[in-house]
Amino acid sequence: MKRQKIVAGNWKMNKDFESGLSLASEIIPMVESEASHEVITILFPPFVHLHAIASLTASKHGIFTGGQDCSAQTEGAYTGEVSAAMLKSAGANYVLVGHSERRQYHAETNELCALKINRALEAALSPVYCVGETKEERLADAYQEVIESQLHGGLAHLDEAQMASVIIAYEPVWAIGTGLTASPEQAQEVHAIIRGWLRNHFSAQVANQTSILYGGSVNVGNAASLFGMEDIDGGLVGGASLKSRDFTEIVKANR
Ligand code: PGA
Repeated sequence: MKRQKIVAGNWKMNKDFESGLSLASEIIPMVESEASHEVITILFPPFVHLHAIASLTASKHGIFTGGQDCSAQTEGAYTGEVSAAMLKSAGANYVLVGHSERRQYHAETNELCALKINRALEAALSPVYCVGETKEERLADAYQEVIESQLHGGLAHLDEAQMASVIIAYEPVWAIGTGLTASPEQAQEVHAIIRGWLRNHFSAQVANQTSILYGGSVNVGNAASLFGMEDIDGGLVGGASLKSRDFTEIVKANR
């Protein structure tokens, strides 16, 4: 089975409602003409934009919408939280879990991420589980250990059927929003480590079928060389996803 290629745009906390809608309205027709069975595009706007943007992507081929986070709880007295089932009911098909900014600013642990992944799967959302080492961990040559423990904490409890819905994003923290990109070889090395972990923990089939995205300063200039690596199935794009032309070029680079 061929792995699904994916380019996803993580808008983070950018764009008010009106400018978010116009960005999505620019991106959708450009990307739709590029869409194929091979590459899908996912937009991750802020929660308040999600329903409106999901209504725009709903009838389009190969373009989907997702939430940037979800609660680890199902429902109830958790002020400010948004549940996976709410995201699904608003039109989302995907949700980011464990983005490094959530780990850093909201002290999210692998254990909390595991609960969020469970909630996402129960709501029939595909979780995009983000892993990646900090600059200090890379300099200390500890990245393999760090990434394997993030994988273990977030995913080890799942079964193979559940893993069919999971996407993994490798995002070295030192490359996010910094303009420093992992070289294609550095990224490929970690993607191969992730695939090796999937093979050891689950099976060759899970390893071969799981899409693994690279994120961290992906741009028009570096996308094709990253996406050309054997184990890199696409990208999770932050800054460059806020510019419709750049984002479309990055989608095209994954053909
Ligand atoms: P960046 O962000 O492309 O701006 O580095 C990527 C991400 O955080 O998902």
